[in-house]
Amino acid sequence: MEQPPVVKVLQPVAAPKREVEGLPEQRALAASATTLEELRSGVASCEACGLCETRKQTVFSDGGVSSGVMFIGEAPGADEDEQGLPFVGRAGQFLTRIIELGIGVKREDVYIANVLKCRPPENRDPKPDEKALCTAWLDRQIELVNPKVIVALGRHAAVHLTGMDLSMGRLRGQVHRVNGRPIVPTYHPSYLIRQEGSSSFVRTKKLVWEDIQLAMREAGLA
Ligand code: URA
Repeated sequence: MEQPPVVKVLQPVAAPKREVEGLPEQRALAASATTLEELRSGVASCEACGLCETRKQTVFSDGGVSSGVMFIGEAPGADEDEQGLPFVGRAGQFLTRIIELGIGVKREDVYIANVLKCRPPENRDPKPDEKALCTAWLDRQIELVNPKVIVALGRHAAVHLTGMDLSMGRLRGQVHRVNGRPIVPTYHPSYLIRQEGSSSFVRTKKLVWEDIQLAMREAGLA
């Protein structure tokens, strides 16, 4: 009997983001900020989702825009919540090494932010509505920073930014263009830390290095 053709879905796209309650107002608020400092103060007083009840403080950004490279992680952890800065814990130290040794610029020359501006309690995964509401801030932040390239750190940030619900192995190693903006996904520094001492560590480090080179070419830094 003739077999039906095998259909391969090569690029499954994440379900379109549905409008959550409060999102249009949140977008309007974010759009009204004309500078990063205005946006930062909007974020600091944000109460759009339940995370405002458990955060110690909001975590807006670190670094600057001079290199044209923007790193985006998932969400603040305990150290970041404490200090009000992204990537200051162990993963942050690893990220600093990637920036200084991989790109060859100072940490303060790249812009660092997260999809979420508040720490989810016990570092649980962000809920879809929390991400949707916080996207209003992130989208405006990206507009105002206007980076030449975005490096998405880890699968959560990569899926969120590219809209492609794929494994990290399939997302990385290429430049995705979203609204004309280049996005280069790579492994999260925490993933590298978890692999330290194992046989996969060297291989993953090499892949991250390749992704960073790709991002540098996009930013004209190679
Ligand atoms: N992990 C992230 O994704 N972001 C941080 O700021 C710290 C750890």
